[in-house]
Amino acid sequence: MTRFLLMIPGPSITDPETMLDMAKPTFSHVSPEFDAVHRESIEALKKVFGTGGDVVVIPGSGTAAIELAIRTSLRAGEKVVVLKAGFFADYLADAAKRVGADVTVVQSPIGRGFDASEVERLLREGGYSAVLLQHVETSVAVANPVEKIARKAKEYGAKVIVDGIASIGGMDMKLDEWGVDVCLTGSQKALAVPPGLAIVAYRKGFTPLSENETTYFNISKLLKEMESTRNYYITPAVNLIYALHSSLKRIIAEGLEARYKRHEALAKAVQRGLEAIGLKLVAEEGFRANTVTAAYIPEGVEWPKLYAEMRARGVEIAGGLGELRGKIFRIGHMGEVTANDVIATLAALERSLAKLGYRVEMGSSVKAAQEVLYSYGV
Ligand SMILES: Cc1ncc(COP(=O)(O)O)c(C=O)c1O
Repeated sequence: MTRFLLMIPGPSITDPETMLDMAKPTFSHVSPEFDAVHRESIEALKKVFGTGGDVVVIPGSGTAAIELAIRTSLRAGEKVVVLKAGFFADYLADAAKRVGADVTVVQSPIGRGFDASEVERLLREGGYSAVLLQHVETSVAVANPVEKIARKAKEYGAKVIVDGIASIGGMDMKLDEWGVDVCLTGSQKALAVPPGLAIVAYRKGFTPLSENETTYFNISKLLKEMESTRNYYITPAVNLIYALHSSLKRIIAEGLEARYKRHEALAKAVQRGLEAIGLKLVAEEGFRANTVTAAYIPEGVEWPKLYAEMRARGVEIAGGLGELRGKIFRIGHMGEVTANDVIATLAALERSLAKLGYRVEMGSSVKAAQEVLYSYGV
C-alpha cells in the first residue's frame, strides 16, 4: 500500500519534500552546518509558540515533552489542578504526581472543555498555584479556550501549563501575549514532521525550574545545548531536525494566520460533512478542535469493520481511546492535510458506511463539505 491517505490525529501526513530533506546524509551533531539548522529551527519554533523565551527540542514522543514540561514547572507539594476533558489529561496528572505535586483532577462531561468562568471558580475555591490542561484533547476532539483560561489564571497568579501536542502548528498559540507559562508539543501532529521530537516552549520571563532534573530531563544542560549544539549534552535526532527545519520553513511561508484559517476551514468541512450523513459529533459546538474531529459510530456499525472498509478504500482513520473505544471514530485534519484529502475521506466514509448497512445518501457529506470549503475560498 504505497498510496494511502493518513487521516489519523497524529502521526500526520509529512510533505514529500520534508521526507527528502530528512534523507540527507547525517551530519555530525556538533558541526557548524547542523548547529545552524538547529538554531534556525529553534528560532522558527519561537514564532510558532509566540514566545521570546526558551524552546527546547529533545528526542522523544509527546510524552517526553510532558515530562520535561512538568519537571521544569512544578515543585513538590504545589497544589495544582488538571482540567480533564479526556484520556490524555491523565498524562499531565501522572507527571505532576510524580514530581510530588498535590494534584486535583477536575473532569468535564464528554464533549465539553472548560471555560474561563469555571477555571475562575476553581482557582477562587481551590487556591491552586497552577492550571494544567490540553489545548486540544485529541481523544474527544475537544479544544479548550486557552487564551481566556490563561488570562484568567494570571489574575489569580496561577501558572498555566498547556499540552499543545494536537494543536501547535494548526491552532493559534501566543505564550507571551496570553500568559501561558509552558507549552509543549510533539513533532508528529500539526507540525507535520514524523514522530520522534519532543518540544517544550517557555514564556519570556519564565525561568524553567531545575530541582526535578534527571539525567535525561536535565534542563540546565539542555538549555546550553539549545544555544549551540556544540554544547553537546544528548545527541539531537539529527535527521528529524532536518525534517523539522524543512516543515517549519513551509509553515512560516504559508503564514501562521493563513495556516490556522486553513485548519478552521478543513475542520468545519469535516464537521458539516459528518453531520450531513446523520452522524453525531463528540465535541460540543464551541469546544470543537480545528485539528481533529470525533464522531459517534452509528448504531449497527462495528468499529473494526468500519476501520477495515476505510482501509480497503485507502484511508486510515482512528478509533476511540479508553472508555470510548469502539464507540467513536476520529479523523485527523492537521498539518499538511489538504481540502482534497478531506473530500476523499468523506467520500470513502460514505461508501464504507453504506457497505456496512448504514443509510447514506451518496454525496451528501461531500456536498456539505464542499460548500464549507467554497465559503472559505479553499
Ligand atoms: C493531547 C495529547 N497529549 C499527549 C499525547 C501523547 O503523545 P505521544 O503519543 O507522542 O507520547 C497525545 C498523543 O496523541 C496527545 O494527542
